Amino acid sequence: MKIGIDKIGFATAQYVLNMDDLANSRSVDPEKFSTGLLLQALSIAPVTDDIVTLGASAAQKILTQADKENIDMVIVATESGIDQSKAAAVYIHQLLGIQPFARSIEMKEACYSATAALDYAKLHIGKNPDSKVLVIASDIAKYGIGTPGESTQGAGSVAMLLTKDPAIMVLHDQSLALTRDIMDFWRPNYSVTPYVNGMYSTKQYLDMLKTSWDEYQKRFNKSLADFAAFCFHIPFPKLALKGFNKILDKQLPEAVKEKLKDNFQHSILYSQQIGNIYTGSLFLGLLSLLENSTSLQEGDQIAMFSYGSGAVAEIFTGTLAKGFKKQLLKGQSRLQELKKRTVLSVTDYEKMFFEEAQIDENGHASFDNYKTGPFALKEILGHQRIYRKVAANGE
Ligand code: CAA
Repeated sequence: MKIGIDKIGFATAQYVLNMDDLANSRSVDPEKFSTGLLLQALSIAPVTDDIVTLGASAAQKILTQADKENIDMVIVATESGIDQSKAAAVYIHQLLGIQPFARSIEMKEACYSATAALDYAKLHIGKNPDSKVLVIASDIAKYGIGTPGESTQGAGSVAMLLTKDPAIMVLHDQSLALTRDIMDFWRPNYSVTPYVNGMYSTKQYLDMLKTSWDEYQKRFNKSLADFAAFCFHIPFPKLALKGFNKILDKQLPEAVKEKLKDNFQHSILYSQQIGNIYTGSLFLGLLSLLENSTSLQEGDQIAMFSYGSGAVAEIFTGTLAKGFKKQLLKGQSRLQELKKRTVLSVTDYEKMFFEEAQIDENGHASFDNYKTGPFALKEILGHQRIYRKVAANGE
């Protein structure tokens, strides 16, 4: 049975910080961010957006009523959990009105877990061919003001509907995972921002890419020439570019190399405007590739490198389905959408991004009315998060 990605949706926050403004404010040469990191802007989420609101928004854009009646599993992959017990997927299941006889869970391993979620979804559909599984990768990447990671923050969510005979991409059975117990990036329960060994994390990312790709090629007798594009986890686009260059086989025919290079550029377009969205970054890269590349054709194979600090990496692959373009937006219209975000000054970004709920002695907190997508965190009442649907006029 062919199983894979039938639809992909994306949502990000409604506010944006331009890298040049951040650079000027931090007395950094703007070229460091634009050329050194290949970043132009970062999405900034207000306190009324979280992994639930962003995840529900991303999914809402792609699901029909018939999908909602057939989804029997919702998986949220995240490292920005809002509760130690209750899965964000349970809130999203309710907000979207998915039929009740469904399993809703959350999965965690830094930026990697959506890849495991896809595999679980695939196994589930293998046993239940008429099932549809909603996999949502949702995160807010927040490092702190003035930290080295500040320039690589971001917020967003990618929702994927997994089915048999998918309309976008058939996922292959062959994949190669790699685990190393390392402390490159981690966030203890008592900390709202991560601890990061930044340079070490980039070395591990590149080394785990090389190690897993070498082993993948050996085990499955594959090479880069088998693929039309290679998508990477994108903590910031420059690191993905370094990864791409590390595995680029200099012996490949020039035309193949050029196609791979061209498609790599298409895969980083959205991340350059949004920043890191942790679990969703790889899939935002895939979406960017699919919506912007003009050379991709049905039957083309795509390779993907998933990386989550801590660390787990995986190489997995898929084949583009017949008519896959019909399921996707045009790249230009997605980029136009991003231009509608409200530009923040650095002072307003600092106030907004790092605002925390002020919970009183009764467990209540209320919030100012910020711009969000179709769902917002309304208030906290008796320690319970209360979400609301936002009308088209923002009310
Ligand atoms: N003009 C042009 N380029 C300049 C420049 C200038 N004036 N000044 C500096 N640069 C270049 C540097 O040469 C460098 O490029 P190269 O690596 O190609 O040489 C680039 O800008 C970055 O500069 P630095 O090396 O000085 O590094 P930095 O201070 O920007 O910090 C970082 C980089 C440590 C990775 C930091 O961004 C960070 O801590 N990020 C968070 C952690 C992270 O993203 N790690 C990635 C792997 S872990 C992972 O993948 C999981 C995840 O999502 C977090």
